[in-house]
Amino acid sequence: MRQKLVAGNWKMNGSFDLLKSLLEPVSQEKGLSCQLLVCPPFPYLAAAADLLKSSGVFLGAQDCAATPVGAYTGEVAAEMLAEMGVSHVILGHSERRHYQAEGDALVLAKVKQALAAGLKPVVCVGETLEEKQAGQTAEVVLRQVQAVATQLSSEQLGQLIFAYEPVWAIGSGLTATPDQAQEVHSLIRKALAEQDQQQAARIQLLYGGSVKAENAASLFAMPDIDGGLIGGASLNASQFLAIGHAA
Ligand code: G3P
Repeated sequence: MRQKLVAGNWKMNGSFDLLKSLLEPVSQEKGLSCQLLVCPPFPYLAAAADLLKSSGVFLGAQDCAATPVGAYTGEVAAEMLAEMGVSHVILGHSERRHYQAEGDALVLAKVKQALAAGLKPVVCVGETLEEKQAGQTAEVVLRQVQAVATQLSSEQLGQLIFAYEPVWAIGSGLTATPDQAQEVHSLIRKALAEQDQQQAARIQLLYGGSVKAENAASLFAMPDIDGGLIGGASLNASQFLAIGHAA
């Protein structure tokens, strides 16, 4: 049975004060049956690792380089993240696909670097509003999933987490309904099963896009939704923990 995972993507938000006020309650919360993962911006990862030490809460980054260490100014290598206690890394987020023009090939290169460093990639996929309105959701999402999944070994595939984040639901308050999200999650799981039935059954598929304490339980109750990738609500400890308790 897949354990639920509730991940917080802080995006480019945070401060050392916020880090402390958020991570102290998160690291001390009892009674959760789900895994928790927090992904602050790079500058706060070392302090976050200290605050989360021995708490059981996973620490993630929001990106990594597509190459090993070397002459790549400004980049952050996956092995550096692993060295500081990071266990997961969000890759291919729609905001990076949009603002940084990240395409499927670059996402795959980053996934391979993350895997080589022993990190678990959280690979984000999702259609834009225009693509949804054009009836291209399945085509777009499966292209993004298979651009990564089909290039990996079974063992590598087993290390992946996918996050379905319909772009039109991110930060908009327009959450996909549980049925809408389940329909796409089921498509993803079926596509992965055609490649590797055993790993497909084990891979966690997260939903992201305006998840709140009020809607989390109905989303997470769906058979192929194994948790959430939370943006705005992850910047509020009680909201984030309420979502964790809903998982
Ligand atoms: O990566 C998660 C994020 O894109 C969702 O953001 O604010 O809609 O929960 P939000």
